[in-house]
Formats: sequence, structure tokens, C-alpha cells
Amino acid sequence: MSEGGDGGPAVRRLDEWDEETLVALAEEYETPLYVVDLRRVEANCTRLLDAFPGADVRYAAKAHTGQSVLRTVREAGLDVECASAGEVERAFEAGFTGDRIQYTAVNPPARDLDLVVERWREHPGLTITVGAADTVDRLRDRGFDGRLCIRANPGVGAGHHEKVQTGANAKFGIPIERVSDLAEPWAAEFDLVGVHAHAGSGISGEDLSEHRELVRRMGDLTRDVESRVGSLEFVDVGGGFGVPYRDDEPPLDLDAVADATREALGEVDATLAVEPGRYVVADAGVLLTRVNTVKEARDATVAGVDAGMTTLLRPAMYDAYHEIRNLSASADAEPMPVTVAGPICESADVLCEHRPLSRPRRGHLLAVGNAGAYGYEMSSTYNSRPRPAEVALSETTVRLARRRETLTDLTELEQ
Ligand code: LLP
Repeated sequence: MSEGGDGGPAVRRLDEWDEETLVALAEEYETPLYVVDLRRVEANCTRLLDAFPGADVRYAAKAHTGQSVLRTVREAGLDVECASAGEVERAFEAGFTGDRIQYTAVNPPARDLDLVVERWREHPGLTITVGAADTVDRLRDRGFDGRLCIRANPGVGAGHHEKVQTGANAKFGIPIERVSDLAEPWAAEFDLVGVHAHAGSGISGEDLSEHRELVRRMGDLTRDVESRVGSLEFVDVGGGFGVPYRDDEPPLDLDAVADATREALGEVDATLAVEPGRYVVADAGVLLTRVNTVKEARDATVAGVDAGMTTLLRPAMYDAYHEIRNLSASADAEPMPVTVAGPICESADVLCEHRPLSRPRRGHLLAVGNAGAYGYEMSSTYNSRPRPAEVALSETTVRLARRRETLTDLTELEQ
């Protein structure tokens, strides 16, 4: 297990956050408030690099694109995987050089291809991963002949919820059995540097079988492509490393995942690449929210809070579990079943239901754990609710990394 060393413990639980600091931050910056601890982001990067020595570790930026996070990840030595032209721009802004940026085109709008190809002209080290044959046509039309990677649909998916299983979903990638035939002509025309696949999100330690199967298929594909067109630079087997959202869940044994990956891949010339997003930022973030209303409903005590599905979408979208703590209640308060609901006019707008929590009272501060990945990133302004602020903690500073959105920000776009 990846314990100790520079990367520190394998998981940071919600109750390990300094309560006084969180309470003070909520006072100063108000709620709802995201807090991201860059020291933990850095430690998570170190743990990944230690577990996958010699591999290319690429941060899947979609988990959290904040500049402070991107810069920390860059300084820690990871490359970056971007899912849109916007993410590519933000990676450049954070100081990544083109040769450290992978752009994965998913049904890319013309605007994205225009921008990325323009960036590629200035930074020819940038790599474009295609998941459809006609994306290659569209790149050719724009004069692109640079570093190309083919995304395979490996026919095996994994993940914490059916909505995050990508490996067998027709939307993503080129069916793996067709990739080698396409690789030959593309290698003659472009700089074919790699093959790629991603099974889904939330690989757990209990069952690595899908991950192993995906990697085995990618090993076979790599050998086949290499036998036809020569060595590839990398084989990217995607991200999806899970984190324990529940307090009683053990952390992922990253070394075991790395061993299983190497073994399943077998002998290839290409360098192994992985693309974790969640693992880098999930336990580096908490969401702070204040209780506005407490009521005894027919079958539940409901704490109405100022963060909802527009702040943290995961519970509404995936029935995701996030630990919640009442930071204002005394430590010896008897837990009682509480439903924590947001201020949005939707029944899905609950952060938890019937969860044992210390009795909530108006004005109490709640902390929601593991909110660093796909938290702020999936927030929205539904119900005309401006997005929250975010504070970034480092060794020496506490910094407002993103100011709270205002109603003026929302209405500014209207003509
Ligand atoms: N690479 C590719 C091509 C991906 O599509 C993804 C995630 C990743 C890497 C990173 O996966 P990770 O290591 O973060 O699991 N919003 C969902 C997760 C959707 C992930 C989409 N793709 C959630 O909150 O659980």
C-alpha cells in the first residue's frame, strides 16, 4: 500500500481537516464555499508518480480546472489530459508546455478543433487523441499533420455508476477491432504516437478485473499496431482510480493497481500512460455549507442548507455518497437521522438522506468531504443561483482562488 513517503497517507478523511480553519474560512468568505488544499493535491501527485515509476502520469483536468490546482499539478511533474479546447487553453494558462498537453477530442465541435489546431501550430508538441475516423478528416481539412493518438473503445467498462462507464459506451472511441487497420494509413500521414482507452471512473480495490481486462486488450492492440507501423510512444490506459467516499471504505491500493496494470499490459515498446483526475483532487477538497432551515417533516428531520445540486451535483446525478459533518455541534452530540437538502426547486436536490448527523440547528456549519473532484467543476447557475467561491490553501497562504459569482455575472450575458 502506498503509505508514508513524500506522498503521505493514502487517504485524507473529512475528520482530518482542521475544524477551526474551516470554521474561520466560512466566517471570512461565507458559504457555500469550496476549500481546496494544494498540499494534498501535491501529495496525491507524488503518490501517483511513486506508484507508476517510468510511466507518463497525466492529470485529467476535467476533475478540477482551477488555475491553482493546474499549477500545483504541473509543478508536481504530471502532464495534463484535456477534454475540450477550453481545458487546453486553461492548461496553457497554467504554464503547461504543448508537449505536456493531450487533447482528447470527444465529438469535438468545429470551434474546438479550430482552436486546438491553431494552438498546435504554435506548439507542435501537443497531441490530439481522436475517437472517430471522421475527426481525422476534420483535422486533415484544417492542415493538421502532427502528433495523433487513437482512442479505442475497448468494449469493457467500469465505474461507480452506469453514467460514468465509458469503455463500452458507443459514444467513446473507435471499436478496438478496427483500430489497427486505421493505424496503418494514419501512421503514414500523421505522427502516430499512441493508443488510448478509458474504462470509466471509480476503480475499486475489491475488483480490478475490468481494469485488468481493459489493459490486457490495450496491450494486445499496442503489439498489433507496433507490429504494423513500428514503435509507439505511449499506450494510455485511462484514469478512473477510485477514492473512498465513505469513512469505512479502505483506500485504493495504488501499488496493487500499478502491478496489475503492468502485468496485464505485457511487453510493449510503448511507455505506459495513465490519466487520473479524481485521485488527484477528490480528498483535497471540502465544501462548506450553512444550515438555513430545520424542520421536522413527516418522516425526516430536514436541514435546509445553502449548497445544493447546483453547487455539488454528484449526489443528485449519481446518487453519490459524500461524508457530511456538522462542525458546529459539540463532539458528544448524539447522532440522529438527518436529510440535508439544498435550496433548489428539485426533489433531487439532496446531499444525503436519513444520515446519522449531530442535531442540526439554524446557522450550523456543515462540511461535505471529498468534494475536490467534479465538485466546483460540475456546478451550475440553475435557479439563478450564482456559483460559490473557492479558497486555496498552501503551505504559507490562504488565497481566494475564485471569487463568488454575482447575479450581475449571470445577467451580464443578456442582450
Ligand atoms: N480520461 C478520460 C478520457 C476520461 O473521460 C476521464 C473521466 C478520466 C480520464 C478521469 O477519470 P477519473 O480518474 O477522474 O475517474 N463526473 C463524474 C466522473 C466523470 C468522469 C468522466 N471522464 C463523477 O463525478 O464521478
